[in-house]
Amino acid sequence: MDRYEQVIELAKRRGFLWNSFELYGGTAGFYDYGPLGSTLKRGIEQIWREIYVIQEGFMEIECPTIGIEEVFVASGHVGGFSDPLCECEQCKEAFRADHLIKHIMEEADGLSNEELDRIIEQNGVKCPECGGNIGNIYEFNLMFKTQIGPGSGRKGYLRPETAQGMFVDFLKLARYYRDKLPFGATQIGKSYRNEISPRQGVIRLREFTQAEAEIFIDPMVKSHPNIQRFENTSLNLYSDTAQEMGRSQIMTIREAVDKGIIAHEFLAYQVALVDHFLQRVGIAADKLRFRQHRKDEMAHYAIDCWDAEVLTDRFGWVEVVGIADRTDYDLSAHAKMSKTELSIYSEYEQPRMVEKFVIKPNMGKMGPMFKDKAKVVAEALKALPQEAFEKEEIKVSVDGDDLTVPRELVEFVQETFKVSGENIVPHVIEPSFGIDRILYSVLEHAYDEEIIPAKASEGNNEDETRIVLRFRKEVSPIKVAVLPLLTRKELIEPAKEIVARLKDKGLMVSYDDSGTIGRRYRRNDEIGTPYCITVDYDTLEDNTVTVRDRDNMQQVRVSIDAIDDVLHELLYKGKEFETVGKPL
Ligand code: GLY
Repeated sequence: MDRYEQVIELAKRRGFLWNSFELYGGTAGFYDYGPLGSTLKRGIEQIWREIYVIQEGFMEIECPTIGIEEVFVASGHVGGFSDPLCECEQCKEAFRADHLIKHIMEEADGLSNEELDRIIEQNGVKCPECGGNIGNIYEFNLMFKTQIGPGSGRKGYLRPETAQGMFVDFLKLARYYRDKLPFGATQIGKSYRNEISPRQGVIRLREFTQAEAEIFIDPMVKSHPNIQRFENTSLNLYSDTAQEMGRSQIMTIREAVDKGIIAHEFLAYQVALVDHFLQRVGIAADKLRFRQHRKDEMAHYAIDCWDAEVLTDRFGWVEVVGIADRTDYDLSAHAKMSKTELSIYSEYEQPRMVEKFVIKPNMGKMGPMFKDKAKVVAEALKALPQEAFEKEEIKVSVDGDDLTVPRELVEFVQETFKVSGENIVPHVIEPSFGIDRILYSVLEHAYDEEIIPAKASEGNNEDETRIVLRFRKEVSPIKVAVLPLLTRKELIEPAKEIVARLKDKGLMVSYDDSGTIGRRYRRNDEIGTPYCITVDYDTLEDNTVTVRDRDNMQQVRVSIDAIDDVLHELLYKGKEFETVGKPL
């Protein structure tokens, strides 16, 4: 069993992840989150909200998961969001062409369909299922299509990213933020991609959860006011050029910006913030790197993109977050499609004096020549670009008539104006998180197997393997389990009282009285419960309970009256376990 299999086996057995529709045989690309999986996911999302919504101030919005066609025509998804598809001529199984040649060429993302066809033919690549011939490659759009309303209703698509909602609501967001850049908005929600043949379990889903922030910035201001927070943060960076050399580089954010490895401070701050979030939810620092997209793999909307990649046992480096510079691509595209100006008035720090070319038609001379049309001709002249006056004759079109205006009828002057600001189309920096992949990576990095040597004195003659999910306490789905030593009324009652008290404090607590105490400890280790409280006969004597630490199995004795405070300090204040009670 590799680590993926071990993690998935545990995740299924303990209620983190279940195959969807299993009752009917299941289908690839969908997973259900069981009780612990859902709780873990909410915990990860809550930390994300704390960082992006509360600390960064990027308010959360919620848009429909179905979008109308215009949105995705404008965004480029109808035209360009596709993967190269090919089918086996014999068994009709579908494959992503670039995946079929992974054993020949690792980086096949940027290849054209013709190149892929050629490589498949030259290398005699056959169907991995039945050995049949592979047919020609064509583009398969990854969006799920639907219809809004009955009959010949409007065409719609399930959204392939949450981002478009923030772009479509840009003007309302700008008003909410009182037209001051930079500002950002976020969404956490489902997105959908009709993947051709998802064979990577929970890593490639057809319905998945994204957490995205769209941060609108002034393209001329790419410094970040809080960059000092991360200046000394060291990251494992695998830039475009480092990839050519075949090795990543560890360097500080300051160094990366100064050397031009990350293009600007604003992007660098976002990369560092992603690192902060991922480590806080439990991604191992030594299994995390940031890889810059090569030019040939960049999404259609981006000019620069850094992926946070996490090292996994089976799939190698897996992208879990993309941090893209989307420029004004989306706002300009929606402005064009909707015929609405999507810009913001940006005031300069100091008013600027600007020279302008001004056209002054001489109305005294225009009147006799153009009579009642003189005014419209003058307006049409004023609307002409400067180059129109560089020619011998000035041509202007009025009400469908092409007119020639003698030069002496028009004066041109350079005038100086005081300008306080201008309309700009903001650029967008987008950190986009794949929550499901992050959750799987958290499970894999938390998974540990430990050999407990046999202890003949306790009747164990064989070594035992203890499986532990070493979650960061903040994300553990169950924070504490309360266990009566035996299923006797006199122990069950105080145990249930403790459960009620801890629930009152808002803690996710479980009560467990089935099986031996040893089995109950193991069960809680397997789901990553940081602390177990055991009520025994001493409790009835001295009003104390045993608290057990998941990671080192140490136990201390704590007074029941202090239990809520002790747990709060252990879970949220980083208090040392040995200091909270009498060691056993
Ligand atoms: N919004 C970026 C993505 O969905 O990949």
